[in-house]
Amino acid sequence: MMRKPRLFTKAQVLAMFLLCATLVWAADGKRVFNERCAGCHGSDARGSAKGPGLAGSPRLSGMSAEQLRGLVQRGIPDSGMPAFDLPAEELEAVAIYVRGLNAGVTAKPATGKQVTWGKPEPGDWLTYNGKLSANRYSHLSEINRANVSGMRLKWIFPIPHSGLEVTPLEAGGVMYVTGPNQVYAIDALTGNQVWKYSRPQTRGLGGDAMLGTNRGVAIRDEKVFYVTDNAHLLALHRATGELVWEKTMPEEVQHYGGTMAPLVVKDTVIAGVSGADQGIRGFIVCYKAESGELIWRHWTVPRKGEPGSQTWQGSEPLRGGGSTWLTGSYDEATDTLYWPTGNPFPDGDDRDRGGDNLYTNCILALNPKTGELKWHYQFTPHDVSDRDATEPPLLVDATYHGRERKLLLHADRNGYFYVLDRTSGELLLAKQFLHRVDWATGIAADGRPVVIDPKGCPDDAANWSSAAFSPVTGMFYFLALEECTGSPQGYPDQTGQRFLRALNIETGNIVWEVPQPGPAKAKTWSGVLATAGGVVFYGKPNGGFEAVDERDGKLLWRFETNVQMKASPMTFEITGKQYVAVAAGPNILCFTL
Ligand code: HEC
Repeated sequence: MMRKPRLFTKAQVLAMFLLCATLVWAADGKRVFNERCAGCHGSDARGSAKGPGLAGSPRLSGMSAEQLRGLVQRGIPDSGMPAFDLPAEELEAVAIYVRGLNAGVTAKPATGKQVTWGKPEPGDWLTYNGKLSANRYSHLSEINRANVSGMRLKWIFPIPHSGLEVTPLEAGGVMYVTGPNQVYAIDALTGNQVWKYSRPQTRGLGGDAMLGTNRGVAIRDEKVFYVTDNAHLLALHRATGELVWEKTMPEEVQHYGGTMAPLVVKDTVIAGVSGADQGIRGFIVCYKAESGELIWRHWTVPRKGEPGSQTWQGSEPLRGGGSTWLTGSYDEATDTLYWPTGNPFPDGDDRDRGGDNLYTNCILALNPKTGELKWHYQFTPHDVSDRDATEPPLLVDATYHGRERKLLLHADRNGYFYVLDRTSGELLLAKQFLHRVDWATGIAADGRPVVIDPKGCPDDAANWSSAAFSPVTGMFYFLALEECTGSPQGYPDQTGQRFLRALNIETGNIVWEVPQPGPAKAKTWSGVLATAGGVVFYGKPNGGFEAVDERDGKLLWRFETNVQMKASPMTFEITGKQYVAVAAGPNILCFTL
């Protein structure tokens, strides 16, 4: 008798049964998810205001279905994640579903905690200046003028580079810091390294890029963005530090360098270049954060025939300078990007570049979607003294002479403090912030300086280090340098003196100042952080890290770092506790109460 051929073996039947069961479970899991979880975690599991994203998370991918089941069953006490008392099959099904959302995601941090990302917390420091406005004023106030005297060092993280200029970013308990072609993710509570990305420094560079200067990263979702010394923009995986994409920012070989922290605006990442002292044609460039696809490039020096080219009377300025090495600011309300530019090239030799030399030493107001210029303001036309306008452009909404205004505040290297209406570029105030300025007698109503001696004082009145405006005091805080070595008439104090200064933004008058110990020549450009605690933090030329009262500059706290400080401080909060961090010499220092 012929046996009926068997369609399937027993093992196959069993396998099919399991497959079907899993599919049913999975389908069930999605249903349970939609009913119970989507309200907070989003129907696509990408997160909402009420709960973090659960898809593509390296942390969750490291958890077994068993662990996920336990988490859902118990909830996360005091966090907004409720405990679920579900039938065993539903619990199992939703755990398997969440696991499936994370299949294929890898996490291999070196040590310490694993990195995830979700909804940013209000206490995070997510961008170079903490806010897109570039105003280093934090709403955090746990550390305040009454208790800052009790602030102490919590941890140190060393980086093999002596003159760090980085501002750390902090998000989700992880801090991101940089050195020369080095990026580190560290546990913000302990300073332990999570991962490191590095490549050798590039040979044959000039300027600050050659020195290994780097000012930090930008972050967005699962990516960390970094500019290398040779002006490549890297996207690294936030959980592992692995390279995701890399773009060479320049179009051609010139003396381009990279030192700046890129800026994330919505789903794009924007960066600039250094090298105008060596000869480059500056630009700002914008890429899609996800793919690295080029969206726009805005040249800061026009080609022949382009708008602004009439301000270059001489050969075509193919390396006319106008570098873009300081992170700009962004205004959501007017959807405008503000970017400062550097000096023309060649810097001290203007024989072949008569005219204003646009758009060097400017603030550029750009459409962030297209890179198109909305308006510009030039602080120092036809510069022969390296008066980069690469000082922070702070965007502040304030009542100004009785009227609500959208302002842009900027203390320029040419010795004047400027207040512009940032919607139009209209000049509202230009006031000398040094005791001695003799290159110009003032800024005329049309916005142009009244120049008497283009090479006159000052040398380096202000620079890239961060500044802050306090809405409480109405004051603008920054570090100023009274120095005048170039002047033929000489200057009473040739070595110069640095000051922490507080300006009234309506008058530009100095309200208070703290003279800094010399010599001012020490290349110290620590910046300023102000907080709602009424405290201004800054680094001194002699290595002191200080907190002073925002109202009068009175000393409240000091820590001796005993190393050169060239970086600007930041602050962040994790589970209600505030921290202040700053790079000093080769170390990242983190303080708390
Ligand atoms: C009422 C809102 C809410 C609901 C409903 C909710 N969650 Fe959550 N869930 C949260 C919040 C908030 C967190 C973050 C808690 C924290 O760590 O601070 C969270 C965290 C989690 C985490 C850990 C995420 C991580 O990265 O560590 C998982 C997994 C999770 N939820 C799964 C679920 C599942 C599955 C459901 C449905 C059965 C669910 N949640 C329903 C609010 C919710």
